[in-house]
Amino acid sequence: MFFDQSLSGSGRMSCATCHDPAHAHAPPNKLAVQLGGARLATAGVRAVPSLRYQEYTPPYEDMLDNPDGISTPGPGGGHTQDGRAATLAEQARIPLLAKHEMANNSVADVVRKLRASAYAEQFRQAFGPEVFKNDQKAFRHALDALQAYQLEDSSFHPYSSKYDLYSSNKIGGELTAAEMRGFAVYSDANKGNCFACHYNGAGLNGSVKLFTDFTYAAIGAPRNKDIPANAKAGYFDLGICDRPDHPRPASSQYCGMFKTPTLRNVATRSAFFHNGALKSLKDVIRFYNTRDTHPERWYPTVKGVVQKYNDLPARYRANLDKQMPLDGRKRGSEPPMTEQEMQDLEAFLNTLTDNDLVVKK
Ligand code: HEC
Ligand code: HEC
Repeated sequence: MFFDQSLSGSGRMSCATCHDPAHAHAPPNKLAVQLGGARLATAGVRAVPSLRYQEYTPPYEDMLDNPDGISTPGPGGGHTQDGRAATLAEQARIPLLAKHEMANNSVADVVRKLRASAYAEQFRQAFGPEVFKNDQKAFRHALDALQAYQLEDSSFHPYSSKYDLYSSNKIGGELTAAEMRGFAVYSDANKGNCFACHYNGAGLNGSVKLFTDFTYAAIGAPRNKDIPANAKAGYFDLGICDRPDHPRPASSQYCGMFKTPTLRNVATRSAFFHNGALKSLKDVIRFYNTRDTHPERWYPTVKGVVQKYNDLPARYRANLDKQMPLDGRKRGSEPPMTEQEMQDLEAFLNTLTDNDLVVKK
């Protein structure tokens, strides 16, 4: 099912179209948002995340215990970048029916396609001979099957990176001097401080080395004019404050917060942050380092004024996270990392690429 293009309104789109296993189950192209719908011409509004290492993600809660066991509870968990799907099965419903993605007309439409598929007989064997008699039940089984595939197939969680070899003391895991220095920058609360959110320790739920703590934070990614929805000046993607359980103004403190993604396989991506605003890992590291000291590098200048945080309305900017390296330091002051430290950090992040995706030199 994951690879079946007939399960779409266009007949030309499967889950794998946007979540390609050869690209860490993320898109094979550089687009900030993908094109879907009945004619593959309707743009989405968010960049496509990797589907690898989702298996430990707990359901969303406003006060989720932090996996590190120390940090105070806060918004965390859930699938999609605003956590609105509690499980991978619930999540799969969204793209199958979304007008800008697989664009099936209805649940019945999906089930009709399943019944006509090459694997219909296997579906009956797995879920009973009567499975296609009830559309809602058959659809539910389809979602469960997609979830089982993502949970059970090791391609979604191979733990085969150089870092995995390193952290389990295996041959081939010897980090270079630059990678070691980069790991130190990653883990230094006064430099990169990346581990504070992209947590790489053991988690409360039995997970380990996921490079995310499942939390949400507002970090002020620049607005991306390549997203057609952003042509409307009044349109803002506000992350978890747009959730149905977060009515405004009561829930305004959540506006601008998006899920902290895993950094595993991050070096294989070509669109970064929820809106795909940045195009290279090099740039992302530089954004963290100089968002506050040199905002003119990241945001447009209008009539001599830098439009800092231009993808978050001014009334929500108190929600911006203040942790290092985004500590709000003065414009023109010294950034937290040196050029060498940023290069080392990038070298370290490259060790998080799974073995099947490493470009052999
Ligand atoms: C047109 C491109 C497209 C297709 C096709 C697509 N997805 Fe996605 N997928 C996305 C985008 C975009 C997001 C992020 C959505 C958001 O944050 O609101 C996403 C998010 C997800 C997530 C959540 C990941 C996370 O980090 O929380 C899962 C799981 C997922 N998709 C599974 C699937 C499955 C299963 C299918 C097939 C039934 C599928 N997707 C088809 C674009 C696509
Ligand atoms: C305060 C928590 C926090 C800290 C500290 C932090 N990050 Fe992030 N990171 C996030 C969140 C939240 C996002 C998603 C933001 C969005 O989509 O708008 C993110 C996104 C990213 C992405 C984009 C990944 C993708 O799939 O698009 C990269 C790369 C990244 N961070 C690297 C780093 C590095 C390197 C550091 C250390 C220099 C760091 N982060 C420090 C919270 C944090």
